[in-house]
Amino acid sequence: MDLKSEILRVLKDSSGEFVSGQELSEKLGVSRTSIWKHINQLKEEGYGIESISRKGYKLKSAPDKLNSEEIGPFLSTERIGRQIIYLESVDSTNEEIKRRAYKSEEGLLVISEEQIVGKGRLGRSWNSKKGRGIYMSMLLKPDINPQDAPKITQIAAAAVVKGLKEAGVDAKIKWPNDIILNQKKVAGILTEMTGELMKVEYITLGIGINVNSEVEDFPEDIAQKASSLKIEEKRHFERKKIVSGIVNNFEKLYTDFLEKGSISVSVEICKANSILLGKEIRVISRKGEALRKAVDINEDGELVVEDEAGNRETVFSGEVSVRGIHGYI
Ligand code: BTN
Repeated sequence: MDLKSEILRVLKDSSGEFVSGQELSEKLGVSRTSIWKHINQLKEEGYGIESISRKGYKLKSAPDKLNSEEIGPFLSTERIGRQIIYLESVDSTNEEIKRRAYKSEEGLLVISEEQIVGKGRLGRSWNSKKGRGIYMSMLLKPDINPQDAPKITQIAAAAVVKGLKEAGVDAKIKWPNDIILNQKKVAGILTEMTGELMKVEYITLGIGINVNSEVEDFPEDIAQKASSLKIEEKRHFERKKIVSGIVNNFEKLYTDFLEKGSISVSVEICKANSILLGKEIRVISRKGEALRKAVDINEDGELVVEDEAGNRETVFSGEVSVRGIHGYI
């Protein structure tokens, strides 16, 4: 840990009481001048620190930064997010995971304040304005077959919806990977698999959430379909609580999958919060478009649809996209 983090830890541990410069310097084995310099740096980073001569320093507020000092206290996980790389800017957090994948352990979390080329599904881009959203990716190394990789998307969708509910937001899932609030998309999941035909080397799980974005942050063409938690709920959200809520839920559901080999718990959450089930939808595939009724999400996380004659078939996430027949949903 660097000195700034150590000072923060001592100030946080002293639960709102003053800690003298002398005490900090003795505890951390550095001079009082060095403490003073680092306190000033913390103030510049947005920490509200009161300094009173003779009394010392008191932490009054912390910025909504997504580094391990700020997220760590809210995490209850054993492996996901134990190592966090926090960046001011990056091309894409998914790409950063891939650059680090072979020399890193499962659970590495990359979070960036902005993405220059944020990626969406099917070659689309993901609007990643600085400081307004959550742009994060996890490195996973499950011992599974490549055809099971889409299950990770269902686990993540369940974790995002649960995490958002804990933050007071009643979001829904538009299978397979869109998170919807008031008919508009507020979050998306991009699962990428690296491996061979028979073996997964690793999985990059990317989650993007429009948290405190304003209407003007969205380009006109997507403003019809996209929104943010703040726009819909009319309040500001603390991103670090949302990140930790999602990561905590993800680890539980992911561990359950690894232990049982089944995503049944996640599927139940996805079904209970699905915006598609029971609705007429348009299934768009390479073969063309078809009107179907969405009737189930099966135990493998695939969408089950029914035609007019009652014939059922499954839809795999990789081969179709689904659009509502009335507008976006
Ligand atoms: C989609 O709905 O199309 C998926 C969007 C996924 C966006 C996230 S933001 C963090 C991670 N890095 C990326 O470049 N994309 C994902």
